[in-house]
Amino acid sequence: MGVVTDWTTLIRDVPDYPKPGILFKDITPLLADHAAFTQVVDELADGLAFDKVVGIEARGFILAAPVAYQSGAGFVPVRKKGKLPAATLAESYDLEYGSATIEVHADAFAPGDRVLIVDDVLATGGTAQAAVELVRRAGAQVVAASFLMELSFLAGRDRLPGVDVRVLVSV
Ligand code: PRP
Repeated sequence: MGVVTDWTTLIRDVPDYPKPGILFKDITPLLADHAAFTQVVDELADGLAFDKVVGIEARGFILAAPVAYQSGAGFVPVRKKGKLPAATLAESYDLEYGSATIEVHADAFAPGDRVLIVDDVLATGGTAQAAVELVRRAGAQVVAASFLMELSFLAGRDRLPGVDVRVLVSV
């Protein structure tokens, strides 16, 4: 296992995906590199104390589950509407066209659980804002929200006032 000096070089730009004019940031080369993946997982939880890690479907799961495993914390999935089997809490947020809804199991947390929210990208912040609301409504507290990457021109962190926002790389 080597030491990665700059794992950001393993984030690949894909032009015109998912539609013309969009420059997609593809993290699959980073995930495929064990040293880089390990380093990123370590950094997402660095210096934080928490009981549970929330991962946001789908790419957030890839990062949040190893953070939970490595930290000795539980893992809680926040999923797109209709995917969780038991009683849920739901939050909707606006998209460019229309809206989206994410859900969490209503009994996912013990009262006062300290929660770290993990996702791959902070873009407009709508998803993360809804996830914060879900955690709080479920009776837990958000200690931080950690993202591999922030698309800073979209100012997503402005939608997370009072949240300790951690970002490993800002583009
Ligand atoms: C992406 C990304 C974040 C969200 C960020 O997920 O993984 O969850 O968008 O965007 P926002 O800050 O503007 O809300 P996406 O909805 O594409 O789902 P996926 O992970 O299943 O591809």
